[in-house]
Amino acid sequence: MSVRIYVPRDSSALSLGAESVATAIALEAARRKADITLVRNGSRGLFWLEPLVEVETPQGRIAYGPAGVKDVAALFDAGFLTGARHALCLGPTEQIPFLKKQERLTFARAGITDPLSLADYAAHGGWKGFQKALAMDGAAAVKQVTESGLRGRGGAAFPAGIKWKTVLDTPADRKYVVCNADEGDSGTYSDRMIMEGDPYLLIEGMAIAGIAVGATQGYIYVRSEYPHACRVLAEAIALARAAGYLGADVLGSGKAFELDVRKGAGAYICGEETSLLESLEGKRGMVRYKPPLPAIEGLFGKPTVINNVITLASVPIIFAEGAEHYRDFGMGKSRGTLPIQLAGNLKHCGLVEKAFGVTLRELLYDYGGGSASGRPIRAVQVGGPLGAYLPEKQFDTPLDYEAFMAIGAMVGHGGIVAFDDSVDMAGMARYAMEFCAIESCGKCTPCRIGSTRGVEVIDRIVAGSECEKNIALLEDLCDTMINGSLCALGGMTPFPVQSALKYFPNDFRAAPGRKAA
Ligand SMILES: Cc1cc2nc3c(=O)[nH]c(=O)nc-3n(C[C@H](O)[C@H](O)[C@H](O)COP(=O)(O)O)c2cc1C
Ligand code: SF4
Repeated sequence: MSVRIYVPRDSSALSLGAESVATAIALEAARRKADITLVRNGSRGLFWLEPLVEVETPQGRIAYGPAGVKDVAALFDAGFLTGARHALCLGPTEQIPFLKKQERLTFARAGITDPLSLADYAAHGGWKGFQKALAMDGAAAVKQVTESGLRGRGGAAFPAGIKWKTVLDTPADRKYVVCNADEGDSGTYSDRMIMEGDPYLLIEGMAIAGIAVGATQGYIYVRSEYPHACRVLAEAIALARAAGYLGADVLGSGKAFELDVRKGAGAYICGEETSLLESLEGKRGMVRYKPPLPAIEGLFGKPTVINNVITLASVPIIFAEGAEHYRDFGMGKSRGTLPIQLAGNLKHCGLVEKAFGVTLRELLYDYGGGSASGRPIRAVQVGGPLGAYLPEKQFDTPLDYEAFMAIGAMVGHGGIVAFDDSVDMAGMARYAMEFCAIESCGKCTPCRIGSTRGVEVIDRIVAGSECEKNIALLEDLCDTMINGSLCALGGMTPFPVQSALKYFPNDFRAAPGRKAA
């Protein structure tokens, strides 16, 4: 019987040599006349073990990693086709502690199935939610989402059900569903992993959204730096269309839903929803004034549901298992699970899906394994480049939208970037302002000019020029940006700056002779 061997096709694994490993395994099997079936799965999200090769055995899937081309012959010699021992053997994949302790709802299939196999998707519970949604009217479908407590995973945590209801209740001859796959936040990759590793999940979520609110066309706006995701999505959409899940008469329901991929314009601001819509319309990505809300006047002036990849990918399970099942995970007003992305100076970077409520400390040490450098973790930035820097004393904060808000931080898209005690927090504050200066769309003054002045003021502070006066000026500038900016890029750039000043003040007090960064 043919032995199934899994080698991920996910970008993270490919960047670590997975393609060569897959080729080497195929060649070695041919040379030894071993009967294997090579499956190119998504990543399990244990990046320090990539390329993670798995072999299907009667005892389940056995993992080996990180596997290089040079290891392939030895793996065959050791008998890895029967799950035998080898120095790289990690045992049953599901028993690896990093995976075992997770609560994977959205990522339940990632790394397990062949991303482009419709049969695999269906065999692992795919389309179950869609079938249920097709049998409901719009109001009942939107109610499911509302009752699940699902909030937007793109950053603002706005209740998805309220957004969908606004689109449903706005009469129009045409409505749209737009998926925000610009994934610009530092240290984030969960959107990419879903698009590359379980694309039908996103397609199903978008089709449910379309059917629920009465939208007939969807677009996935994918950041241009994700060529693999674009390719996988294009292929998956074509296969789903051919199988009747998309088109003018979805699964014979008489309802229409079409889906297309659009490549992003390569700017951080194009992830902001109104800029994204401008970009999707073929214009430069500039922020629009609100109101009108995109739910009322969005793409091409029509009512538009715009949601993040993970928001939409969370929808199928809500329909498949019921709103209550999803809502039972989490704490307070943060319901369900969050795919958390560990990055930066950590031993074990990767994807951790947990119910809301897990603490930063658990994530950094139990999952992340502490710093990669072995030095103490001094600061973490949660929620992308506009997130506050948190010191060690706040590591017991549970991941919960309100708990984070209470300490002046945000959960955002769930990216966690760790820094050890060699980090220069004045340098990080400067970087926040510099990032804003580069990425500002330029529409409003506090952001466009303020960020450039912010870089200059921080340079003067670290150079030791009238430190106290310039710190007061920096605080004043932050205040102006927060209160005077049109969107969250200018409005939240001060958060990393202010938190660096508050928790790491000594990094700003110039040592004699210190030069500007
Ligand atoms: C500067 C800026 C960049 C953003 N980038 C992204 C992004 O890359 N991906 C995303 O989903 N949301 C991003 N957002 C949030 C979107 O504006 C919007 O809130 C989101 O697409 C709504 O979807 P959700 O409710 O499912 O989160 C960004 C917001 C701002 C202000
Ligand atoms: S805050 Fe910055 S990015 Fe946002 S609208 Fe103003 S200039 Fe553009």
